[in-house]
Amino acid sequence: MRPVEVKKDIYWVGAVDYDIRNFHHYSRSPEGSTYNAYLVKDKKNVLFDTVNAHEFDELVKHISEIIDPESIDYIVCNHLEQDHSGALPRIVRLCKPEKIFCSPMGLKSMTNIYDTTGWPIEVVKDGDRIEIGKRHVTFLETRMLHWPDSMVSYIEEDRVLISNDAFGQNIACPQRFADECTHEQLLTAMKGYYYNIVLPYSANVLKTIARVTEMGLAIDVIAPDHGVIFRTPEDVAFVLNSYKDFAAQKPMKRAVVVYESMWGGTAKMASAVADGFEAADVPCTLINLQTCHCSDVMTAMADASAVVFGSATRNNMPMANMMACLANMKGLRPLNRVGGAFGTYGWSGEAPKMIAQALADMKFDLPAEPLKCYFNPGADDLAACRRLGEDVAAALKAKCGE
Ligand SMILES: Cc1cc2nc3c(=O)[nH]c(=O)nc-3n(C[C@H](O)[C@H](O)[C@H](O)COP(=O)(O)O)c2cc1C
Ligand SMILES: [Fe+2]
Ligand SMILES: [Fe+2]
Repeated sequence: MRPVEVKKDIYWVGAVDYDIRNFHHYSRSPEGSTYNAYLVKDKKNVLFDTVNAHEFDELVKHISEIIDPESIDYIVCNHLEQDHSGALPRIVRLCKPEKIFCSPMGLKSMTNIYDTTGWPIEVVKDGDRIEIGKRHVTFLETRMLHWPDSMVSYIEEDRVLISNDAFGQNIACPQRFADECTHEQLLTAMKGYYYNIVLPYSANVLKTIARVTEMGLAIDVIAPDHGVIFRTPEDVAFVLNSYKDFAAQKPMKRAVVVYESMWGGTAKMASAVADGFEAADVPCTLINLQTCHCSDVMTAMADASAVVFGSATRNNMPMANMMACLANMKGLRPLNRVGGAFGTYGWSGEAPKMIAQALADMKFDLPAEPLKCYFNPGADDLAACRRLGEDVAAALKAKCGE
């Protein structure tokens, strides 16, 4: 990759990570990702964010194609998570910046994560504005979007919003701009990213978008720190509207059946539940937790408001991947869902009830009782599974206003 000019004298200087498949060790990233950093050439040369530590050389290579890294005057740290700050200590040593800007909470994390002795840190608060020559940069704190230290940087004269993790997507590709990709490809990546990272902070997303709208901030470019950059009016509107949609979590008439099975009994039940959804005209996908990751379940939930979970009982509990899936989902706080629980058993059969309880704790609507079958589900059991699918489908349709 080479550096890419986003607007006159504003460059993408980040790194494309074609290898990463386990983003931040909790979310699958089947298409890789990028760590975007941006360089602005002005009276003061400013570097916005850095990259993951292992991409230090790539960052320096890109900066060096534009200016001597030592002529960087300011570094802005919008967020201290290591995918953006990992290269910071070596960059500070190399560039010897005059100032390093971060939010008040950024200072707290920066001084804990790194040895910042001698670093020229300057804390900026929400709404602070600095001059860098022809340009002015305003910092807006976006606390808990998605860390306490998170902020975004707005370059006034160019109407460029460097949005850090907000509006990111896990995509590794040679293209740097959304208008060089299809919306379909982007939407899939945006959903996966949102549902596995941003979802619990949906209320903050809506607040931030409302605030930016109220402030009347003109935005020509949204430049996130992962994935591609939005630079056309259509694409800026596309990403903002998509985020509003994701955050609203309005009911969507699709279903997912998630299951885990040792000897296939629960898998048979899962298929029958899916048949019930289909009979009720609700498109349904199946996710087997022995082959799929719990982040795949979250990504599927970006299109589906009904989720039914099935697990065999193993040692008086749902199986381990199912437990992990439920725990992962609880932390991500999905809203407005309809669900159900099922599974086979051999003697005590606690799993379906425990799953139903976990879903009730997440405020799922549960229109049917948890369903359990002794060892190998027979014709009557499978008919009950289909009814479970149909009952959840009916509740989903009612939620969707049908
Ligand atoms: C290691 C192991 C532990 C089990 N523990 C329980 C249990 O605590 N309670 C129970 O009802 N069944 C238990 N079972 C029985 C399974 O729930 C039963 O075989 C079930 O039909 C398996 O469903 P599957 O075909 O979807 O794997 C256990 C089975 C295995 C292999
Ligand atoms: Fe982050
Ligand atoms: Fe990030």
